[in-house]
Amino acid sequence: MTDTAIDKQAVAASFSRAAATYDQVAELQRSVGSNLLARLPEHLQVERIVDLGCGTGYFTRALNARFRQPVLGLDIAEGMLRYARTQGPHSSQWIAADAEALPLRSSSHQLLFSSLALQWCPDLAQALRESLRVLEPGGRIAFNTLVEGTLQELRDAWQAVDGYVHVNRFMPLAQLQQILAGAGFANWHCDVETHVLHYPQLSGLTHELKALGAHNLNSGRPGGLTGRARLRALTAAYEAFREPAGLPATYKVAQIILHKGLTA
Ligand SMILES: C[S@@+](CC[C@H](N)C(=O)[O-])C[C@H]1O[C@@H](n2cnc3c(N)ncnc32)[C@H](O)[C@@H]1O
Repeated sequence: MTDTAIDKQAVAASFSRAAATYDQVAELQRSVGSNLLARLPEHLQVERIVDLGCGTGYFTRALNARFRQPVLGLDIAEGMLRYARTQGPHSSQWIAADAEALPLRSSSHQLLFSSLALQWCPDLAQALRESLRVLEPGGRIAFNTLVEGTLQELRDAWQAVDGYVHVNRFMPLAQLQQILAGAGFANWHCDVETHVLHYPQLSGLTHELKALGAHNLNSGRPGGLTGRARLRALTAAYEAFREPAGLPATYKVAQIILHKGLTA
């Protein structure tokens, strides 16, 4: 997300509130995280692994099962961690922290994994500096993040209604590539996947975003309740995008692997 005014406390509170509902609606999140996991080399053996922005711990458990190592699940939302702890694995450790200020020793971990979390960092470059610091020489971070074009239909529909920023801003791909190139890693790889979900009605999408804790937290969002008239206007504007399969919601997911050099 490119808005430096994004409020981390609000992000943490919103995800904490969503902890109990997240897994029921997180189909896309599981799919893109699994695609990221599949990008790791088949025979990779690592220990000292962190799941950054672990949420309910779905991928903390997947990493634990794949590498047969304890995994550190780290998240800014205490409510997410409380929920994750109840799901196991019991060998995992959980820690409340900010990806931009990791309370971890330098050169202490071999693999950092992060699925759909770092777009919530106001300063991605800072999160990558922290990742580089914490990785051992030769270690890697595998992460994915949302880029511009994500929820474009919703953004355009709101724009037609009142011109406010109602949808989180996502970084243009070129800006992301520039950050990756300047992040101090020995090499980087970035591919973009496009996923289009379909909903019979707009309420299906908006309820899902709320259940994920991912509804709009950018500054510039108007305060107060969404009036009925505005909601009707939004629904009408979104109808312009309707396809035979339903109302589309596009997600552009950048899947990224960065290697720390052996001499770094
Ligand atoms: C969309 S959820 C993804 C959760 C999990 N990785 C998954 O794929 O199911 C994003 C998570 O990132 C966490 N998060 C947001 N900003 C963060 C930050 N600055 N540091 C650590 N975690 C953060 C949120 O609290 C939330 O649990």
